[in-house]
This record gives sequence, structure tokens and C-alpha cells, in this order.
Amino acid sequence: MPAQEAAPCGRQDHAPARPPDQNRGDAVLIRNAPDLPGPSRELLVLDAVSFTYPQREKPILSRASLRLGADERLGILGDNGSGKSTLLHLAAGLLKPSSGGILHQGRICRTEKDFAEARRRLGYLLQQSDDMLFCPTVLEDVAFGPYNQGKSAAESESLAKNTLDSLGLAHLAARNGNSLSGGERKLAALACILVTQPQILFLDEPTNDLDPKARQRLLAILTDRSLPALIISHDQDFLRRLCTRFCVLKNGAINAVSL
Ligand SMILES: Nc1ncnc2c1ncn2[C@@H]1O[C@H](COP(=O)(O)OP(=O)(O)OP(=O)(O)O)[C@@H](O)[C@H]1O
Ligand SMILES: [Mg+2]
Repeated sequence: MPAQEAAPCGRQDHAPARPPDQNRGDAVLIRNAPDLPGPSRELLVLDAVSFTYPQREKPILSRASLRLGADERLGILGDNGSGKSTLLHLAAGLLKPSSGGILHQGRICRTEKDFAEARRRLGYLLQQSDDMLFCPTVLEDVAFGPYNQGKSAAESESLAKNTLDSLGLAHLAARNGNSLSGGERKLAALACILVTQPQILFLDEPTNDLDPKARQRLLAILTDRSLPALIISHDQDFLRRLCTRFCVLKNGAINAVSL
């Protein structure tokens, strides 16, 4: 197993939980985040989050709010460039909001340490998911996650094999990630995420590059796992089949929509 620096999103180092007494004030923020309808037990809350990229005038998010409950999959729609990927980056702590609050499991996250703790439960399929494949073989790529979580090399490899099997990707195990097709890379990246047994998924355009058969398999896998998720996609049929609620990001605001 190569000794590489841990990448974000499910491949991060262990971070100790903050003591409960440092979480004072969270309840205030939760009470102030009612913009989208949702259940009372939120896994994730974005409360009036604003963000502007440096050297850009127009804000990407302007006091945008959302909630994700434990039994929900929220489909996120929006035009190209509307800020969907930026929204997930902010929720994962890869970007810092200029104002507003982000809470994971009721805990306000402000520092990198807070977000590192939250990301241990998160499986994040980036829009550019190729970054997840950097080992000599796909098997090692997939084993990296559990190894980084502290499992032994043998156990990590066994988990990786099982995950690749369950996704119908065993034939890719010995291949190098760079030699895979776009769709194969997307599925291999998904294996890198699912092997860590995340409690919540962030999926940024997961059906891109997938043929109808692979898309159907992905749909079946995600339906079967039934994990809470934020799912960005322009594939409305995919979202309709998978998600419990939908929202659209437009002009920096998040609004509920029906599909
Ligand atoms: N690092 C950056 N610096 C400056 N501007 C950026 C940066 N990253 C993204 N942007 C801009 O922010 C806006 C939102 O980008 P983002 O990637 O979040 O859009 P998106 O909704 O995910 O689009 P798509 O559907 O094309 O993936 C775009 O106008 C983009 O050009
Ligand atoms: Mg995007």
C-alpha cells in the first residue's frame, strides 16, 4: 500500500471528535435554518451560506440553505455554472463560506478539524472523480480507503475485492486507473467510496460517462444501499428514481422543486 498523503472526501486522516462542550450554539443555528422543508433529525444543515470565489464579483451562494434528513436523498438541479459543485465543496469543508453555518449531525463545523471528522462519514464522488485513482492498480485504489481508515493491508484488500465484486467490476482489479474508459473510471471511483462504508453520500453527476447498462447498475446499487445523499445530476429521470426530494440552485439560492 503506497504511503500517500490522504486526499479529502472519504480518504482523510482520523480526527478526534470535539468534546461536547465545544458544540454550544448549534441549536441556535438549527432553529434559524428553516428554508427548505425537511424532517427534524438532520444529518446536514446549510444555514444561510454565502460564498464568492476570490477575484469574482458575483456570489455563487447568497444565504442559501438546505437540510438533509437521515432518510432522505436530495436531488440537486441547476444550470451549468450555477454553483452545484461549489455547494458540495462547501458542505464537505473543501471551501469555506464567507458567512453562514454548516452543521453535520447537529454539530457546527468551522475548522478543518471539524470537517475532517464529518468527512470520515462521507462518501464524496467528485465531478472529476479521476483524482481518486492514483495507485498502480484499481484494487489498490479501492483498498486505499479502508487502509486509510486504519484497517490492515490484508483486510483492506479483501474489502476492496468484495466491493469490486459487488459492483461487477472484478475484471478491472488489476488494471491501472489511467487505462480505464471514462465510465469504468467513474464506477471504479464509486467503488473507492462505497468500500469505506459511508453514512452519507455526496454524488456530483454520477451518471456522466455511463452507458445505459452501467447507469442502471448504478441506480440498482444506490437503491439497494439506500444511503442518505445529496445527488447533483442533469439526469432528471435518474434523480426521480432515486431521490426523495428535489431542489434547484439558481442565482445563489436553493429552492425546492418537484420533478
Ligand atoms: N476555483 C474557481 N475560481 C473562480 N471561479 C470558479 C472556480 N470554480 C468554479 N468557479 C465558477 O463558479 C461558478 C460555479 O461553478 P460550479 O462548478 O459550482 O458550477 P456547477 O453548477 O457545478 O456547473 P456544472 O453543471 O457545469 O458542473 C462557475 O461560473 C465557475 O466558472
Ligand atoms: Mg458541477
